[in-house]
Amino acid sequence: MSILIKNGKVVTAAESFYADVYCEGEKIVAIGANLSHEADKVIDATDKLVFPGGIDPHVHLDMPFMGTSSSDDYETGTRAALHGGTTMVIDFILQTQGDTLRNALKAWQGRSQGKAIGDYSYHMAVTDFNDDVAKEVVEMIEKEGITSFKTFMAYKGALMIDDGQMVQLMKVVRKHGGLVTVHATNGDMIDSLVAKNKAEGNLSPLYHYLSQPEVTEAEASGRFADMLHYTGCPGYIVHMTCEGALNAVRRATLRNQKVFVETCSQYLMLDASLYDKGFESAKWVMSPPLREKKDQIALWSGINQGLVQVVGTDHCPFKWEQKKMGENDFSKIPNGHPAIEHRMELVFSEGVNKGKISLEKYVEVTSTNAAKIFGMYPRKGTIAVGTDADIVVFDPNAKHKISVDTHHMNVDYSCYEGWEVTGKTDTVLLRGKVAIENNTCHLKAGDGQFIPRGKTSLTI
Ligand code: URP
Ligand code: ZN
Ligand code: ZN
Repeated sequence: MSILIKNGKVVTAAESFYADVYCEGEKIVAIGANLSHEADKVIDATDKLVFPGGIDPHVHLDMPFMGTSSSDDYETGTRAALHGGTTMVIDFILQTQGDTLRNALKAWQGRSQGKAIGDYSYHMAVTDFNDDVAKEVVEMIEKEGITSFKTFMAYKGALMIDDGQMVQLMKVVRKHGGLVTVHATNGDMIDSLVAKNKAEGNLSPLYHYLSQPEVTEAEASGRFADMLHYTGCPGYIVHMTCEGALNAVRRATLRNQKVFVETCSQYLMLDASLYDKGFESAKWVMSPPLREKKDQIALWSGINQGLVQVVGTDHCPFKWEQKKMGENDFSKIPNGHPAIEHRMELVFSEGVNKGKISLEKYVEVTSTNAAKIFGMYPRKGTIAVGTDADIVVFDPNAKHKISVDTHHMNVDYSCYEGWEVTGKTDTVLLRGKVAIENNTCHLKAGDGQFIPRGKTSLTI
């Protein structure tokens, strides 16, 4: 199969230029003006942008969590991602405390193999570190192509490790060329605030937000940076929400340290006023919670200052029936919100269209940097000869509304219902095959591949 994309504006993290793109098999084979290659299919990209497929490095598909499971599985989740222009996701394997990484890997392979429509990889969450797990960490890096290790500084009793385990894990990961990532919030502080609020009868979703103040994230982010500095391990903070946490990373730069930072689309454009809607606010119960307008300003600035390298989603959807598990107790509301489908369009509309970031920065934070940090560049994350033909043809002027009636995620509400968006995914290629055209997905379960990853590129 060969495809020629004609007359589009090609955008990479480095530059934008008008060119045709010719793909053969799974790869991009030629880029240039007025290409005359004979192709099985020609896509007219006049007045459209042509950029690398989005990479969302933070999703939770079919994940057992808080007494239920996230409602998108690999099939529905990666299909929805493709509809929005995300061609690859990185999901989180969760080690069960007391069990092995190997068993956790097998469980996640059972959920993904033969089901994924888009490409995927895994981070391995180490929730119980000891000498045996240390050996498995090395195996994951050297044999399985899993080079990033997620840690939780919260969710005590289920996922959290202590600082001693964290430091020992960092030493092993550093030695073998991996990366430690973190959910950086102070779990003990949060648990005590949750308990106090419940004891006082404060049970609505608002108290989820009030139990996780900014300081819980700022403190843990600084502590994580300190442990990275001590061990020399590369690190990445997931789903950063606030100015205080960003300042912890900014302070680390004063000792010439670099800590990678991911924020998520919701933290750039939603705020904590959504917790004022009674139980409906459960739709936005996620950890960390939404913050303030001043935090949105800090995060957009952080993107432009190169302190925030990635915009993911932390897609972790639960249907309304599942959210209702916490109708009488906010601490039982499954944490997470659906976002995998709309990240590319929302960040374009709110970021590029409103003049907050450049087109090149957009590609950098939605695709290229994730590929570099997580060891997949240049196979993924750019448009260049020899790379995977994961390509989005995007109409920057198309206006549309986000709604549960039209989205493809397996969830019965939208956290962005009625939002007017400028910019729409038009056509998507995954490794040289048409994945999305005319709002229809042409790929099937099993067409998505596991992408083994290498060492992080630290020179971003
Ligand atoms: O609320 C969230 N973020 N749910 C998913 C798990 C996590 O902490 O990332
Ligand atoms: Zn988290
Ligand atoms: Zn998450």
